[in-house]
Amino acid sequence: MTGTPARPVLLVVAHPHLAGSRVNRALVEAARGRDDVTVHDLAQARSGGRFDVAAEQRLLSAHGTYVFLHPLYWFAAPALLKAWQDEVLVEGFAHGRDGDALAGRRALVAVTAGGRADDFSPQGRHGASLRAFLLPFERTLAYCGVDVLPPFAVFGGSRLDDACLTRTVDAFRALLDRLADGAGLPEAGAAGHLGPDDLLGAVP
Ligand SMILES: Cc1cc2nc3c(=O)[nH]c(=O)nc-3n(C[C@H](O)[C@H](O)[C@H](O)COP(=O)(O)O)c2cc1C
Repeated sequence: MTGTPARPVLLVVAHPHLAGSRVNRALVEAARGRDDVTVHDLAQARSGGRFDVAAEQRLLSAHGTYVFLHPLYWFAAPALLKAWQDEVLVEGFAHGRDGDALAGRRALVAVTAGGRADDFSPQGRHGASLRAFLLPFERTLAYCGVDVLPPFAVFGGSRLDDACLTRTVDAFRALLDRLADGAGLPEAGAAGHLGPDDLLGAVP
């Protein structure tokens, strides 16, 4: 790893309308105020249609683990995250000659989907696992030398009832605890992602 990160976890929030969000906003609120997590809202950071690339790169360099939180929009991340990748992960910083700033870091995607878990399988309505839709971004991170951990997935979007949302938030807190402690994560199941049961145990 290049340099010694000052803080454990950087939560990169890529929701274009966080004020109108229910699920992502609840997860962000769970992370705010922690000493071991820096919350970074890309919609707020983007000004005049561009990111401050040097500031974004400093944030990446200062952290050892990244969590990229976003809703699934048209089977991909919102355009905000793609713009961030294209502008920030440039040659000489994230890849290419002398571009090793992210080498040895760890990262995972935390994604919320409106669809049901059953929809996301080769036999399901959407024809592929959720993990399959995350592949371009996960490969981008791996290309930059980042160790990619299994994603944390939330299904059901706005239909999540309050009890499920509370459990999801608790699981996200447990995930951040493990990442901040440098602890390992549970094995992802056959679908390739982690959910509340993996972090908290199955509901008795
Ligand atoms: C433009 C747009 C595209 C969406 N595309 C998908 C999709 O492809 N698959 C899916 O399961 N949900 C899709 N959704 C539902 C969102 O993923 C869901 O509403 C969101 O994860 C809920 O989180 P929030 O309350 O933080 O916004 C889409 C929603 C919007 C607004």
